[in-house]
Amino acid sequence: MTGRTDKISRSRVAEAPFPPELWAEAVYSRRSIPATLAAGQPAPGRTATELDPLRPLGPGIPLASPPLHLAPSPDAPTDVSDPAVLAALLHYSYGLLQHDLTPGGWPLHRAVASARCRYPSELTLITPTGAFRYDPLHHQLALLPASMRGSHTAELGAPRFIVITSRFAGTARLYGDYAPRLCAQEAGMLLGSVHLVAASLGLRTRAGRDLESLNDLCAPWSASTGEHPMGYLELEGSMKPGSTAAEGPRHPSGRTWPPGDLASVLRSRHSGAAIFDPEPAPVTGELIADLETALDTVPFGDFSCHLLVQRSSDLAPGHYVHNDGRLGQVGAGDPLALLERIGQTEGRVSMNFRSTACVAYLAVRRGSAVARYGADAFRRLHLTAGAAAHQICVVAARHGLSARIHNGYEAATAERLLGLVPGEETVVFQLAIGAARPSASFRLPVMF
Ligand SMILES: Cc1cc2nc3c(=O)[nH]c(=O)nc-3n(C[C@H](O)[C@H](O)[C@H](O)COP(=O)(O)O)c2cc1C
Repeated sequence: MTGRTDKISRSRVAEAPFPPELWAEAVYSRRSIPATLAAGQPAPGRTATELDPLRPLGPGIPLASPPLHLAPSPDAPTDVSDPAVLAALLHYSYGLLQHDLTPGGWPLHRAVASARCRYPSELTLITPTGAFRYDPLHHQLALLPASMRGSHTAELGAPRFIVITSRFAGTARLYGDYAPRLCAQEAGMLLGSVHLVAASLGLRTRAGRDLESLNDLCAPWSASTGEHPMGYLELEGSMKPGSTAAEGPRHPSGRTWPPGDLASVLRSRHSGAAIFDPEPAPVTGELIADLETALDTVPFGDFSCHLLVQRSSDLAPGHYVHNDGRLGQVGAGDPLALLERIGQTEGRVSMNFRSTACVAYLAVRRGSAVARYGADAFRRLHLTAGAAAHQICVVAARHGLSARIHNGYEAATAERLLGLVPGEETVVFQLAIGAARPSASFRLPVMF
């Protein structure tokens, strides 16, 4: 496996970030994961120097302290140029929210989940004066020199776009040619995160996947930083003063999304201990209602969510599919056998499915997307599904539970057992929801 990875890895990432074989080698199998991953050692042939994550990016433009609560101003339009709004948007979208003091652990945790906390994504504000990179560890912005337009001051103008790029090298050092998959998944989660936090502040955003527009936005600097453009959000202005409501229909339960307590929910979000072995606890009707509403607010609609429910105070065990803001039952009975057949890593069951409350599978229409967009279908579909995956993580956190993204699943088995359209639909995310047991780790909240 190692020799093969070596052979195919060298140049292809730079030339074609998402080669067509990625579907077979990173989604339908895990062939592209180097054998060294188990030991946490660098993947062979991956010697690119990484940026020191603690190093400031350059002369910083300090950001205001983020607020403890996220809410739109009740009587004035929300303005992203307002320093308090900008600080809140960046911090709660991708900021450093928790510090884990466990010796030998992964110390820094941000607003979105990340495979082994590598955080390959970067968030950049595009303003009329240039491109400004968010530096979460110092809670500041830094001008990307290659982007400077006109005047030679680093003054921040009014942000018009937020761009997400990805630095594959740090993730590839561990994961080899599997990195593009993880980076695409995480970019989608970050896009969903910005969209969610913006809505909670009363900001209207339009999420974009169009490759040409994306490349235009990144062209001035992405070549010099070695990053891959992944997605963007156009900042369209304010919603009605005081409003955060997503435009979808209201849930009959009266629950709306994003929730009013989003800031504290994000501060408490976590993925559980190293091996996901939760306590058996049910998901409640309120969680299901939040899930139904949250999935309806995902910026792109070309995904489906299948939920295998084991423990719920309101739903019978079985297989549910999210459609038009509701979860409809398509199969009855305890899904444990299905979960253990789907959720495998090289012949072993990936986590303790006997005590999870439910597991979500996000599926996309791969066949038609590849026919239409070719290799770029990979980026586009992972943006969609990633945005949905982050919503699921936040819904779980709101109800005191953990959602654990786990790529240890058999995509072909999932396709068959979930009744997906063969050759067309593919599962790209597996998320298990459960009540994480207390662990040895000790996380402190981070505020700037
Ligand atoms: C795209 C992606 C893939 C992941 N894959 C796995 C996995 O295969 N196995 C696993 O145990 N955890 C996986 N995780 C969970 C991460 O390890 C977890 O998010 C990370 O430790 C950060 O923890 P936090 O979310 O509590 O901050 C994945 C996370 C992401 C975002």
